[in-house]
Amino acid sequence: MTSTPRSFFLVAIGESRAINTMASHTSDRSGEARRRTLFDADWLFHLGDADGARAEAFDDGAWRRLNLPHDWSIEGAIAEDNPAGTRGGFFPGGVGWYRRAFDAPTAWADRKVAVEFDGVYWHSDVWINGHHLGHRPSGYVSFRYDLTDHLNFGGANVLAVRVDNSRQPNSRWYTGSGIYRHVWLTVTGRLYLTHGNTIITTPHVTDEEATVAINGALRNDTDSPARVALRSTILDPGGHVTARMDTTADLPIGAEHAFAHSAKIDAPDLWRPDEPHLYTLRNEVLHGDDAVDRVETPFGIRRIEFDADLGLLLNGRPVKMRGVCDHHDAGCVGAAVPDAVLARRLGLLEAMGCNAIRTAHNPPSPTLLAMCDRMGFLVVDEGFDEWVTPKTPHGYNGALFERWWRRDLADWIARDRNHPCVVLWSVGNEVREQFSDAGVNTARQLVDAVHRLDPTRPVTCGCNWRDDAEVWIASQFDVIGINGGGGGCFEYANYHRDNPRWRLYASEVPHTLQTRGVYRSVSHYRGENPAGGIRKTPDLAAPEVFGGIDPNYRSSYDNAYVRINCRDSWAATRASDYLAGEFRWSGFDYLGESTRWPCRCWNFGILDLCGFPKDAYYFYQSQWTDEPMVHVLPHWTWPGKEGVEIPVVAYSNCEQVELLLNGRSLGTRSMAGAMDATWLVPYQAGTLKAVARSAGRPVAEKQWTTAGPPAAVRLTPDRKAIAADGRDVVHIATEIIDAAGNMVPHAANRVDFSVSGPGRLVAVDNGDPIDHGSVQAHSRKAFFGLCLAIIQSTGQAGAIHIAAGSDALRADELTIGVADHVCRARVRRSSR
Ligand code: GAL
Repeated sequence: MTSTPRSFFLVAIGESRAINTMASHTSDRSGEARRRTLFDADWLFHLGDADGARAEAFDDGAWRRLNLPHDWSIEGAIAEDNPAGTRGGFFPGGVGWYRRAFDAPTAWADRKVAVEFDGVYWHSDVWINGHHLGHRPSGYVSFRYDLTDHLNFGGANVLAVRVDNSRQPNSRWYTGSGIYRHVWLTVTGRLYLTHGNTIITTPHVTDEEATVAINGALRNDTDSPARVALRSTILDPGGHVTARMDTTADLPIGAEHAFAHSAKIDAPDLWRPDEPHLYTLRNEVLHGDDAVDRVETPFGIRRIEFDADLGLLLNGRPVKMRGVCDHHDAGCVGAAVPDAVLARRLGLLEAMGCNAIRTAHNPPSPTLLAMCDRMGFLVVDEGFDEWVTPKTPHGYNGALFERWWRRDLADWIARDRNHPCVVLWSVGNEVREQFSDAGVNTARQLVDAVHRLDPTRPVTCGCNWRDDAEVWIASQFDVIGINGGGGGCFEYANYHRDNPRWRLYASEVPHTLQTRGVYRSVSHYRGENPAGGIRKTPDLAAPEVFGGIDPNYRSSYDNAYVRINCRDSWAATRASDYLAGEFRWSGFDYLGESTRWPCRCWNFGILDLCGFPKDAYYFYQSQWTDEPMVHVLPHWTWPGKEGVEIPVVAYSNCEQVELLLNGRSLGTRSMAGAMDATWLVPYQAGTLKAVARSAGRPVAEKQWTTAGPPAAVRLTPDRKAIAADGRDVVHIATEIIDAAGNMVPHAANRVDFSVSGPGRLVAVDNGDPIDHGSVQAHSRKAFFGLCLAIIQSTGQAGAIHIAAGSDALRADELTIGVADHVCRARVRRSSR
């Protein structure tokens, strides 16, 4: 039998050990001939505009020193009159400047030097030593500048970056502001493999053999013609050489040369979600005896097909996408997400049985894709939320879209096309012009552009279904994403019957709202749905059993939503073989799109802003995993409700669930064909326990014991040791517990944190949508019994000591090791 965890809320955290996140951030790994280093440390920052800051000699002595990634919005105060409004979660925007001084050794004089930005939000201008390198409006596309011609070799240099997020609102969700992703410095020889031109495809894949096709390009920027050998080596997942190809080329001065290699791999280890085998391509340029450039790119061997009747076929076998849509922020760290925060989030999704992510509604960080490659997530890589017709007053739309989309799309596809995790390119989401000729025209151009850059993957878009539309963009796409069940009617079978050749998936559904720890017995809908029906959920009990709840909080019973609940939505998707999968809105709560003051977020996530699972998380786990589990809700601390019938719901992937109150059976329910089991239980303090059985044997259980008054603070870290690299983090789940160790579900005590040793408190949070306390403070109120602290290493090895207390409650403390090398164990949960 699986043991009962000490707190339901912490279950998935214990399983969230992910992967070594620090090893490789991007697809290119460098050999000696090429050096690509993280350029995140020691930037200077100034909030506001700064006359003359582009100049090398500018006096930045009073600026703040910080390490990237950085987001100044999350540092600012939430205020009702911040112009981002509901969309940006009332966080501030504005203008910010960054400067970074560095020495360029004399040895670089005959090298090429480039700076690469993974993502800057937004409207960035970059200067090197006062020379303007360029302007990029997009806040999500990665870009690079060649610095070579403007460097002082053997002397000091200054990169200056102005970021302008002042015109608001420019997004429908929280964006963050600043250089919020990694920056890299790449130094190569002058005979080098050109950026973004390595393309790896697998045109022929069977279980027995595969063909790997490699395209690349190199350039000769030396002052003499060169005869070079080009070598492509394929290393198998174990690091052994499995294929090698050599060709030669003569390059005149200033010439570029494209090359193509092809290799046959016998009995390939195929990439798939449950076994994401990764090969590595090593491309080398050999000049005489020297390897003058070398780039390593991980890739996977896999075949993707979308079939109108069978959905997604991966390597010839149907795979249902069990997905979530997520924005790029991660709660209290804002948009500046440390790699280890992202790894924890993906680990939580993986433990839930999720196998797919839609990067709503913009290109993700390269870090996310590298992790998805390694963890086996299928990714719908999305480019845009708006085309020409605006959704936001100052967003990426209109003239800005028309001027920039080609370039941004090209950079996005070139950056991401070697990632095996990417199975679909999505060029839009519910664009306003989807029912017009202009929309059809834009769709066609976008699809053609993607096909030219990557003929191997289908192109999709999140669409709203409208049966009566005379003009509609949907037929332009290789695979059609149906958002919201198609306007609320969920007539998937009709869509399939009427359009038997369309390849379909549910790109965004269900939209359910739930606040962790909150329960209501009467169902709630966001509003009327003008586009179609709402699939209603019968009230669990009426009149309302749970009163006095803040109107900004939503019920966790899967009875608060826009059009359909989690259970009905997944039932419809599961029953439809032709649907390639479902992407719920959303995986995690995200900042912004809050619809009204004083909310900084809404509660669409099935994990809250802290990554604490809500009850719905366990619903998906019951549907998407095989390892025996059971979850029961609500918690069992309801003083004053003695005798009141409380609806109790269990989720389980086992055959039967029995509910017991204080040892007395309240009945056994069969889970065969059921998405949940329910009881109405007259409240009586004590222990409520769900026991799950398969083949007659108990295989999992969960229980709630009525908590007494708050007595102590309990800290539970997600890891025992972190790396001493100044970037790695530990998450400390913080509970208010009673004298017997039960989490107190209504507790709102303020917890004070203190940290000593080589660590710093990065952020605190509690998931409460209306808590405006600074996430950068050293204290936080518990929200329904829980809050979170994130602590980052500062660069030295040793031990971080963390203590947390709360007025009269017993304090807790723990020590986290900080070591030069830390291995992160990977726990894979068996999934369906
Ligand atoms: C969808 C939209 C999402 C989000 C969601 C909230 O229509 O695509 O970005 O806004 O609604 O209900």
